[in-house]
Amino acid sequence: MCGIVGYIGETPAADVLVPALRRLEYRGYDSAGITTVNGHGLDTRKAVGKIAELEAVIAQSPPQGRAGIAHTRWATHGRPTVGNAHPHVDCPLRMAVVHNGIIENYRDLRKRLTSLGHKFRSETDTEVIVHLIEHHRTNGLLEAVHKAAEDLHGSFAVVCIAADDPETMVAMRRGSSPLVIGQADDEAFVASDIPALLGRTRDMVVLEDGEIALLKRRAVQIRNLKGSQVERPATRIPWDAEAAERGGYPHFMLKEIFEQPEAVRSTVRDHLDSAQGRIDIAELGLSDRDIVGLNRVAFIGCGTSLHAALVGRYLVEEFARLPVDVEIASEFRYRRPVFDSRILTVPISQSGETADTLAASRYVQNGGSRVVAICNIVGSSLARQADGVLFTRAGIEIGVASTKTFAAQLAAVLLLSLKLGSARGMIDDDQLLRIMRDIESAPDLMQRVLDQADRIREIAKQFAHCSNFLYLGRGLDYPMALEGALKLKEISYIHAEGYAAGEMKHGPIALIDKQMPVVAIAPAGPTYEKMASSIEEVKARDGRIIAIVTEGDVAIGENADAVITIPPAPTWIQPLLVALPLQLLAYYIAVERGCNVDQPRNLAKSVTVE
Ligand code: M6R
Repeated sequence: MCGIVGYIGETPAADVLVPALRRLEYRGYDSAGITTVNGHGLDTRKAVGKIAELEAVIAQSPPQGRAGIAHTRWATHGRPTVGNAHPHVDCPLRMAVVHNGIIENYRDLRKRLTSLGHKFRSETDTEVIVHLIEHHRTNGLLEAVHKAAEDLHGSFAVVCIAADDPETMVAMRRGSSPLVIGQADDEAFVASDIPALLGRTRDMVVLEDGEIALLKRRAVQIRNLKGSQVERPATRIPWDAEAAERGGYPHFMLKEIFEQPEAVRSTVRDHLDSAQGRIDIAELGLSDRDIVGLNRVAFIGCGTSLHAALVGRYLVEEFARLPVDVEIASEFRYRRPVFDSRILTVPISQSGETADTLAASRYVQNGGSRVVAICNIVGSSLARQADGVLFTRAGIEIGVASTKTFAAQLAAVLLLSLKLGSARGMIDDDQLLRIMRDIESAPDLMQRVLDQADRIREIAKQFAHCSNFLYLGRGLDYPMALEGALKLKEISYIHAEGYAAGEMKHGPIALIDKQMPVVAIAPAGPTYEKMASSIEEVKARDGRIIAIVTEGDVAIGENADAVITIPPAPTWIQPLLVALPLQLLAYYIAVERGCNVDQPRNLAKSVTVE
């Protein structure tokens, strides 16, 4: 949460920082600000709201200087006001900082610094950082930031510039707040996220926990906690700047929904060898013998990634015949679960930066469990922390609502379950080959569902005025019901609940009346008949049904007010198909209601605070 960017080079800093900041807007959009440094000191502009507001302020009076820092905020401490917007400066205007994360001991520090004569002007935890740096600044900026960091408790990323040193910028990272550094000819950059820098460079170095970097135009030096210099080659990022553009679509979310067949294709491509009938996931770092030694699998995640984990549970139980737990990362941390080396833990996170998922993974690693992450971002904290990683290859996802990363996660949990199953001898070669062919044909089936987008838009128009939705599914479609409801909630602000269809009669049925649309996920498969009964029960109480069924289904269609079809497919492929109408329905309803689907209120793309 919160986007950070810093630049030092030959170009006017605002011209580099503002476009970079725009690419980070999905990290927060409560307020934004920029500070540049030039021969006359620090020059700051801030605005409440989106980056467009900041641009309007800058257009009236552009800040001067060829070095600077900028920030887009997701408020934690203090309301979204200009006073609380970053960058924060000290009182004599000698230093400016941008910050992502939380300073846990800021109250104590604020008291201490106030008693030393520092004057605070905001309600934020961040402001203590700039006063602390000022307090410690007897020599170079690097030493002052280093000393300040020793006083700070919490997880944070900070970038600092000083009025008297326009040739230097210092970046520091501790804990789960990411920072990447980029370098090009005569310029250096730092950002909280890769997309910010893609327009300028694709060669980036990830700053590790506890590291501090000194950035000059032609050189970047990184030091670790002990003060030793770190030599780390840059990683070439496989995405181009275009991937972070809307490419003719009205919203990133719609573009990303349509990119899902490719996200699935890319995720499975390197792992399926259908000629040999083998699944190869070397990155797991698990031999067949290791897999045979496992006695349990535990998935961990939050939000949409948690829903992929719930699908993973069905698949691992089905194909690998291992007991499976699914853990909500933010809850897990406050129990004392027992973990050991025979449990394989699989944290799922598109960003790889979700604080709760990172903390839960660390906990199980300390207990001796082997951690294999499913993650979309190479170089992310989770990818580096895990013992092995199965990367989803969805490309950059900018829309705050996860769509294509979810599809890629569904493909990844399917791959993982098959790998575990075949190593444990639970699936025979013929069955494995058949399923592999099903996976390979899934992207084409997904495209057939996407081709119905116009029809789904029409259905969305009929239901967009409703205030509540219920989503029902059984078996593998239960997590899909949860995901459908989450998508609708987060982008349209309509109250929606996902329920296991069999649970409906234990309570939620009381809600059903003429005003209540029920999205019933009922494709052909083992739970079809039961879903048909649940639909009858809804109809008997005048509820309105939007049914998702398999092509050719007549029985449920007769009872439904609207029908969306998916092509016939084996049960384990169906989540990939069912996800699409759920996402499109949520998207078109949100558009119909005039919501900002790419930047829903109060949300941020990655939740790096607990
Ligand atoms: O980056 P992660 O996958 O760990 O993020 C987890 C959740 O924050 C995320 O899925 C969130 O629920 C999305 N807004 C869902 O669309």
